[in-house]
Amino acid sequence: MKSLIVANWKCNPTTLKEAKGLFDSVKKALLRQRLRTGEGIKNIKNVEVVLCPPFIYLSSFKFQVSSFKLGAQNCFWEEKGAYTGEISPLMIKNLGIEYVIVGHSERRKYFRETDEEINKKIKKALSVGLKIILCVGETTEEKEQGKKQQVLIAQIEKALDRIPRDEMKNISVAYEPVWAIGTGNNCSTDETMKSIISIRQIITRLYNRETADKVRIIYGGSVNGENSGSYLKESLANGLLVGGASLKPEEFIKIVRSAT
Ligand code: 13P
Repeated sequence: MKSLIVANWKCNPTTLKEAKGLFDSVKKALLRQRLRTGEGIKNIKNVEVVLCPPFIYLSSFKFQVSSFKLGAQNCFWEEKGAYTGEISPLMIKNLGIEYVIVGHSERRKYFRETDEEINKKIKKALSVGLKIILCVGETTEEKEQGKKQQVLIAQIEKALDRIPRDEMKNISVAYEPVWAIGTGNNCSTDETMKSIISIRQIITRLYNRETADKVRIIYGGSVNGENSGSYLKESLANGLLVGGASLKPEEFIKIVRSAT
């Protein structure tokens, strides 16, 4: 299974000029990496790299992409209609974008996104042919109250409610403990491994072992060029979801390199 390395730029940067600069730097650095390792321009062996800039920049990038894929950071749950301000999965798909992140903890927290809404988004996005990166993870309070397992079960069961088994190949799950996001207080590889095993068990129970084994389960939360390799080697993570470090091209490439 190819590792999945995802850059979530979140609400950054604030100008198109800066966004293009960041995009170009990452593209060039990836290209250098490919040339260095003697690999083709199109693929770094065993790694799939996905950049998720803000919606507003996506269409500026899509024609230039050759060496990695693009994703959106969110989507709505309808294809079109009178929903002021929303971006539909069909619009994203029609732009030639392959991935969408759904259920990020920042959307759950600041926009009160519920598991039911996340489920609706996933269903619609799958129906138009997008691939999903579903984020799950416990908050500080939930961790302190010993509720991590309970939270993971509820979030995954509700998000995947009535999602057919044959769609699971289009879903990756990102374990992002909320307390580890943007804090530098990253989750230990041991704890991450336990969560990844739990998540795979939950999916096995909902579907079956064969289906669960094909789902990529990735880690996110204060990942950087120094710690990325240990997550990939020691925690059974099939990839990484990177926030802050994805805004620094050289740091991000270090992370990509650690997955090769
Ligand atoms: P940081 O890498 O900045 O902690 O963010 C993680 C994240 O939320 C990625 O989606």
